[in-house]
Amino acid sequence: MTDLHPDLARVLLSPDVIQSRIKEIARQIEGDYADAECVVLIGILKGAFIFLSDLSRELKIPHTVDFISVSSYGDSAVSNGAVRLILDLRKPIKNEHVIIVEDIVDTGNTLEYLYRTLKWRNPASLRTCTLFQKERESKDVPVDYLGFELPDVWVVGYGLDYADTHRTLPYVAELKAEVYG
Ligand code: IMP
Ligand code: MG
Repeated sequence: MTDLHPDLARVLLSPDVIQSRIKEIARQIEGDYADAECVVLIGILKGAFIFLSDLSRELKIPHTVDFISVSSYGDSAVSNGAVRLILDLRKPIKNEHVIIVEDIVDTGNTLEYLYRTLKWRNPASLRTCTLFQKERESKDVPVDYLGFELPDVWVVGYGLDYADTHRTLPYVAELKAEVYG
């Protein structure tokens, strides 16, 4: 790519590769929920909104979407481990089939916190779907649907940001270490 932004080291995943993997995940979910009346996809803002919108439009089973927002990183690339709920769901999820949709699992703190929080609300079932997971030790939280494993570097694009920049790139790229280090 000739016009790569100077903050970016290299492109890791092209738009085509991302889209075809999302189609595969959708087929997997359709198979697993063939008998469910409805599924609730819960996107974690902001990072998951692009993945959720593509996944949702690809899914050919009845489903609704809702959003939740948590905070852990602020504007930095270093997690301090504390997760706070910033914005809650619009509707109760009791007796619903719920899939948490995340952009990327790094330490696993966010997904572990949300899994625990939503489990208390007694959904009929609760699964997790993340487009990316870093190849590093993360908290022991079950990931039911995984798109891609990525190296332990800071990545941006396709919903993922660095201090709210580079989020809307159509591909996923590695941020140069000197930018976030
Ligand atoms: P965790 O709680 O450490 O698993 O981090 C999860 C959250 O941190 C994700 O939902 C992302 O919003 C953010 N995050 C972690 N790694 C990256 C990255 O490489 N690029 C952009 N956002 C990231
Ligand atoms: Mg996120």
